[in-house]
Amino acid sequence: EQQYQESLYLINQFARDFYQEQLFETDRGKSVGLSYFKRRGFREEVIRKFGLGYAPAGTDKFTLTAVQKGYEAESLKKLGLTSQYGRDFFRDRVMFAIHNLSGKVIGFGGRILAQDPKAPKYINTPETDIYNKSKVLYGAFFAKKAIRKADECILVEGYTDVVSLHQAGVENVVASSGTSLTVGQIGLIKRYTENVKILYDGDKAGLKAAMRGLGLVLEQGLNVKIVVLPDGEDPDSYVQQLGAEAFRTYIDQQAKDFIMFQAGLLQEEAAGDPVRKSKLIREIVASISKIPDPIKRALYVRECARVMEVSEELLVGEANKAVTSRM
Ligand code: CTP
Ligand code: MN
Ligand code: MN
Ligand code: MN
Ligand code: MN
Repeated sequence: EQQYQESLYLINQFARDFYQEQLFETDRGKSVGLSYFKRRGFREEVIRKFGLGYAPAGTDKFTLTAVQKGYEAESLKKLGLTSQYGRDFFRDRVMFAIHNLSGKVIGFGGRILAQDPKAPKYINTPETDIYNKSKVLYGAFFAKKAIRKADECILVEGYTDVVSLHQAGVENVVASSGTSLTVGQIGLIKRYTENVKILYDGDKAGLKAAMRGLGLVLEQGLNVKIVVLPDGEDPDSYVQQLGAEAFRTYIDQQAKDFIMFQAGLLQEEAAGDPVRKSKLIREIVASISKIPDPIKRALYVRECARVMEVSEELLVGEANKAVTSRM
């Protein structure tokens, strides 16, 4: 079993090296892949560190090369590198290697080079014997030391956000890869810190995704801050625009405790509408009642009552109801 897994890691490592060699050493890789990364502001050092690469177009060069080197076609298929018809799974895409916590390559994400409404922007390794998407956070291997040191984990949506922030010197950062957080992913974070700062994309989808993941994060006892980015920006685009210094100042200044952020948001939205306001109060209470620590819960009740301009007793009553109904 162990040996079997090791053999799969070795193949993925071969694949990563192959894609990287295509990126740096072939004409097409350089003119298409490397220039793409450079255009996006990624420097060679970070490209190498994260094992970025280029998967060639058309000719199934990866599969042919791997088989020629003695890797079994069956294993290549099992790893999602080769399709069941023997074709390369990743073609004409820039590649992001996905590492586990000990730095082994467990999968890949491949980004299309030019926008194409008919093709997905990213394709990713499907579930395999060594890749379980719901238990992986992209970048965790490169972030874990910095997360411990900062006692905080910055959570972003995308591969490119992680790479860009690293390049800017913000290293305590991991990506959920576009899905809402799972208990397994939260468990990974909790190995290193209890504090999470969410930097999701500054669009409706991003805010929704942040909100959706939140119940679970609170339930697991993590402290959550949120940074809202300007509309249309994501951490990658914004750090490339502002530069490292100004970006770091921005996130320090904009970070808000999540529950208080929610309370403020609701207060604004429901101003002067009692029916709406009572509904929103229940939503906030639902969030607060997910917090396992009773002391933290009580402190949030007090703060929220103030921000939302309702009596503390009312919120306490509602919160207790919500907690009891869960027992
Ligand atoms: N994603 C995916 N499949 C898609 C779209 C997105 O798996 N079709 C995942 C990827 O992990 C991606 C993340 O969701 O990094 C966030 O998506 P998005 O914000 O659309 O992409 P970016 O990471 O910002 O990529 P880029 O800047 O290259 O557009
Ligand atoms: Mn701590
Ligand atoms: Mn997005
Ligand atoms: Mn982006
Ligand atoms: Mn994005």
